[in-house]
Amino acid sequence: TSQPSPLPIPDSTYSDEDEYANVDWDSLGFGLMPTDYMYVTKCCVGQNFGHGQLNRYGNIELSPSAGVLNYGQGLFEGTKAYRKENGKLMLFRPEENAIRMKIGAERMCMTAPSIDQFVDALKQTALANKRWVPPPGKGSLYLRPLLIGSGPVLGLAPAPEYTFLIYASPVRNYFKEGSAPLNLYVEEDFDRASRRGTGSVKTISNYAPVLMAQSIAKSRGFSDVLYLDSDNKKNLEEVSSCNIFIAKGKIISTPAINGTILSGITRKSVIEIASDLGYQVEERVVAVDELTEADEVFCTGTAVGVAPVGSITYRNRRVDYKTGSGSICEELYNTILGLQTGSIEDKKGWIVEF
Ligand code: COI
Repeated sequence: TSQPSPLPIPDSTYSDEDEYANVDWDSLGFGLMPTDYMYVTKCCVGQNFGHGQLNRYGNIELSPSAGVLNYGQGLFEGTKAYRKENGKLMLFRPEENAIRMKIGAERMCMTAPSIDQFVDALKQTALANKRWVPPPGKGSLYLRPLLIGSGPVLGLAPAPEYTFLIYASPVRNYFKEGSAPLNLYVEEDFDRASRRGTGSVKTISNYAPVLMAQSIAKSRGFSDVLYLDSDNKKNLEEVSSCNIFIAKGKIISTPAINGTILSGITRKSVIEIASDLGYQVEERVVAVDELTEADEVFCTGTAVGVAPVGSITYRNRRVDYKTGSGSICEELYNTILGLQTGSIEDKKGWIVEF
């Protein structure tokens, strides 16, 4: 297999703004495009992570008995680096990802990197792969931090060693629909999360279980599925890979963080932005029956951004929603993307520029 061409390991003075990887930036989707470097550091249980290093992107060696392979002891994160017109890079609220990883690590009995180390590692990874950060307006460099139990275990127990790793891939639209509205299906045969389970943290073990419902829905022409609460199947939870919002008039509602809902950073930011824009935002129990009355529905997530939902099918009944020009979804999408890409002034201190 061909290796990426050698590059010097960059430091903070790296400023080769003109160099771009040989990518057709207009055809980016959300597929893996291997880049040059990944950040790696390891630590033993009971210790802290030391300084990491940038290695060439490639396979990692793991014991067959690694905790992550046998018992799913692993977390992941996702954030995006955007390139500004002036060549600088920007991250959006990266410390929020660090905090979420720390909370997740506690739940999964793992050692987490410090907030500073996490943010510094994101910057290092983005700079090292700078030629893969798309030109302004063409997408972003998705950064994928992983925290895994890499040490060997046989009996069920926390792994004795942890690996914190960040790799990167240039991306644009998450769904194959591009920015076109999604058609969701309300899932009643499978649950995503249960009360007091791990639905609120970004453990890798929350994601493989949603593949089956997703693939059935896709085979029937839907974009993805919308889950209901596992207790009564009466209230909205979230979509396989993102949070959900409904809008009725000037009121925007989203399921409250109750232990089963992933505490999305885009979710949290959209709530704040929408309140600033004069909407009444409610975090509460949202009944599935409210889908029939809603004007708009949209999804939020790092990967998906703010994505319009064009229809939802529940028990063979399809409801269509307003999308496109003049929609609340579009206003929120433009506002958050403007902040993330630097075209709207960041008055909140959400942007880390480097
Ligand atoms: C993200 O939005 O960054 C995620 O981690 C979701 C993932 C399933 C793509």
